[in-house]
Order: sequence, then C-alpha cells, then structure tokens
Amino acid sequence: MPNVLLNHEKGIWKKSVASTNNYLKENKIEQGSWISADEQTEGRGRKGRSWNSFGEDKIIFSGKIRFEKVKFPVSLFSLLTGCAVLKTLIQSAPEIENDLQLKWPNDIYRNGNKIAGILIECEQEGEILDAIVGIGVNLFGKSIPDDLKNGGFLLDKKPTDEFKKKLIENLINALNEAVVLVGDEKSIGKEIAFAFEKSYLRGKEIKAIQNQKI
Ligand code: BTN
Repeated sequence: MPNVLLNHEKGIWKKSVASTNNYLKENKIEQGSWISADEQTEGRGRKGRSWNSFGEDKIIFSGKIRFEKVKFPVSLFSLLTGCAVLKTLIQSAPEIENDLQLKWPNDIYRNGNKIAGILIECEQEGEILDAIVGIGVNLFGKSIPDDLKNGGFLLDKKPTDEFKKKLIENLINALNEAVVLVGDEKSIGKEIAFAFEKSYLRGKEIKAIQNQKI
C-alpha cells in the first residue's frame, strides 16, 4: 500500500474548534483529510505549551498523513515539514524571502520574530505511522500581545480570502512533497542544504544538552 498523502478534496472548514490537531484525532477522520479553522480555543504547541494565535488573520491547519513503511527518523520528517512550510510562505510572499528563516527543528521566523509553529503528533504500529501535522501561521495583525514579544506576522497588509485559500493549497502540495522526499535518500541532501541555508541558528552560539552533558 502506498503512503496516504493529503487530498485537496478532503478538506474540512470550521469557524472555531478547540484544536485542529485534536479534531483530527478525536473524530473518525480518514487519512489524507485536513482541517482549517478560523479560530482555536485550546490550540496546542510543542512541549505541552499552548498556542494562542494572535492578529486578525491566521492559518490554523492540520492534516492527517499515513506512512506505510517508516524507514526514517520522525525528526527528519519534522525538519522537512519545516522546510515545506518555509517554502510555502516564500511562495506566498516572495518579496520578503530574505527575511524568512527556519529555526530548528521547525519554527519559522521573520526578521527574528516567530511567525509560524508546527506540532507533529504520531502514532506508530509496526512500520505504519500515522502523523497529524498541525501548523499555525500568524498572517497579519496590528498588534502583538505583551507576553509574546518575539512574535510577528508574515504580511504587512491584510490578505484576501483568496490569498489564504491559495496558501493552503500550496501548503498541501508542499507537505505532500515532504512525505515523498523523506523516503527518498537521494533527495535528502538537497533538503538539508536548504534547511542549512535558511537556518536562523547558523552562525549563532547554541547550547545543546545530550545525555545530561552540555
Ligand atoms: C509550536 O510552535 O509550539 C507549535 C504550534 C502549533 C500550532 C498549530 S495551530 C494548528 C494545530 N492545532 C493545534 O492545536 N496546534 C497546531
């Protein structure tokens, strides 16, 4: 059986949900489906944190993907998902390409401010892996909450509904491409090179902890 990619026709549009990731988990939604909501009341971030989208316009999106044979570390898929989101945002706003960077493992920054986050949640049974890929993008707004001072927006002017629809269409294509690339050893090098070229951390001093050693 081949992997199940996101299907453009299997979209669910909602005004408000608790969390789009939870929606795909808690309802019997088939693989290849995706959801986009205008608002989330209990959005979740990585490491058990909450995700509060701010601003007037945002993308709140989750998709359900099935890998039939997992022969790669999930961390690699996570990095490639970050690359896919970054490519989509560059495609949507090419005039600010040089302002956009990927912060390992998969946050997107514009001029040093976080504008998008990704939460990937997986369930594995044998070689089959079901992944729920949740993406939040701050598109446009006039103010940033005081407690999120390093937050920012992708755009400087209000987007049209058409722009948002197109962005989601491109996002689905880019995520599907990431699913194909992660299983193709020959292509990985090119993706890693892209992640390195666009890395927010390149040239910065970082502190890494492994096996309780710094
Ligand atoms: C992070 O930066 O910590 C990840 C944020 C991920 C937020 C998105 S918004 C859509 C999806 N639904 C959620 O509850 N979270 C993700």
